[in-house]
This record gives sequence, C-alpha cells and structure tokens, in this order.
Amino acid sequence: MQTSIRLVTITLVLATGLVLVPDGRAEELSRAAMLSASCEGCHGTYGRSPGAIPPIAGKSADYLRETMESFRSGDREGTVMGRHVRGYTEEEIRLIAEYFSQQSEQ
Ligand code: HEC
Repeated sequence: MQTSIRLVTITLVLATGLVLVPDGRAEELSRAAMLSASCEGCHGTYGRSPGAIPPIAGKSADYLRETMESFRSGDREGTVMGRHVRGYTEEEIRLIAEYFSQQSEQ
C-alpha cells in the first residue's frame, strides 16, 4: 500500500516537471530568472528596488541591454555595475534584459 502511494507521488512529481518544461522556452525562462537572481540582491525582487539603488523592473529590454553593455565597456561609469556585468556573456545579458523588461514596476 505504502509503495503504491509513493509510486503515485513520484509519478505526479515527474508528470508536473514535464508539464512545466514542455519545450525550450520554459527552460530558457527559468535560466533567465536564475541569472537575474544575482541582480535582485541589490535591485530588489523582480528588480523593484525600494531603496537608493535604481529599480530596473519594467524598463525596456533595449535600454537594459545597452546600459549593461556600456557598464561593461566602461563607457558608463558606476560603482559596482562595471565589475558585476563583466561576468556575463552577451546572450546572458540579453536574457537578463528580457527578464527584467517583463516584470511590472510594482
Ligand atoms: C552589488 C549591488 C548590485 C548588483 C549585484 C547589481 N547592481 Fe545594477 N546597479 C547597482 C548600482 C549601485 C547602480 C548605480 C550605478 C553604479 O553605481 O554602478 C546600478 C545600476 C544599474 C543599472 C542602470 C539603471 C538606470 O536607471 O540607468 C542597470 C540597468 C542595472 N544596474 C542592472 C543590473 C543587472 C541586470 C544586474 C544583474 C546582472 C545588476 N544590475 C546587479 C548595484 C548593483
């Protein structure tokens, strides 16, 4: 009896996992969320910073991508951003920019 309950549970967990990742799109979304988590420590959850660090939620993906690239190249000066964005590839910057552009400001 207990074994069959466990089997049902495992089957449900596996089935849910398959539903959540039906194609590459969902996988890419969660990768974007994971990459963006490193920004949220400073810019607030979903980029909705309530404090002195500028909020980034809901800004256009182009603005976010271009700003990160200018921090990376040194065209725009910052206290921490120049060092922080150097760790990301162009593709990762694109994913992060899209992620925050899709968050609502509030
Ligand atoms: C250690 C804290 C910290 C982390 C982590 C951090 N930021 Fe920042 N961010 C700042 C600060 C502070 C500024 C203001 C510019 C400066 O001093 O570097 C800023 C500025 C920005 C700006 C410019 C905002 C504007 O209105 O022009 C963008 C865009 C940005 N950050 C995006 C990101 C993204 C995306 C990540 C994650 C990859 C990230 N930041 C991670 C602290 C941080």
